[in-house]
Amino acid sequence: MSHNTVAANRHRHNFANVESVWLFGYGSLIYKVDFPYLEKRPAAIYGWLRRFWQGSHDHRGTPTAPGRVLTLVAQAGARCSGMAYRVSPEVFAQLDEREKNGYLREDITLHFDDGQQQPGLVYFANADNDAYLGPASERDIAAHIAASSGPSGSNRDYLLQLAEALRAMQVFDEHVFLIEQHLLRLINKPTNGKAGQSSSAC
Ligand code: BEZ
Repeated sequence: MSHNTVAANRHRHNFANVESVWLFGYGSLIYKVDFPYLEKRPAAIYGWLRRFWQGSHDHRGTPTAPGRVLTLVAQAGARCSGMAYRVSPEVFAQLDEREKNGYLREDITLHFDDGQQQPGLVYFANADNDAYLGPASERDIAAHIAASSGPSGSNRDYLLQLAEALRAMQVFDEHVFLIEQHLLRLINKPTNGKAGQSSSAC
């Protein structure tokens, strides 16, 4: 599959007569909220893990030197905590452009902290897209991130801002915080010693 998903996403959902849609954010959508929303609530999805397995040609890397950004990887029993936004469907034109590097909008069930569930959408880059990089050790991912940058800034800022945002939400994510530790060691910054407080996985 081509990594430019704008045209594919345009035809994926029929938003006729739909007033608002819940969107689940697990990566940059948590801390870079440059779109209008009607409501915002912490939420989780089940059966998925956050992983730095997707290449970024357009934001945190280039086509010849892609950065590493997040996608979701299926794992039975996993829980991925993030932020949900209720948006009007027009917002997807802007978001599809921002997340065009391999991400397709997928249907998902969102679980809110009060036990409520709602149908929603999530951007997901599967292993079939041309920008997919796949697994690597957290140490190797940190080295890759340390060396990458693109039109939206350095790959390290993507990781560090995400880690900070997860801590602020009291979400513990072993994959993200391990990569952060390796990266801080690589760039000689002291770690802050608080890798997150709650025990929710993802
Ligand atoms: C997110 O934050 O949900 C997200 C991550 C990667 C691509 C698109 C969206």
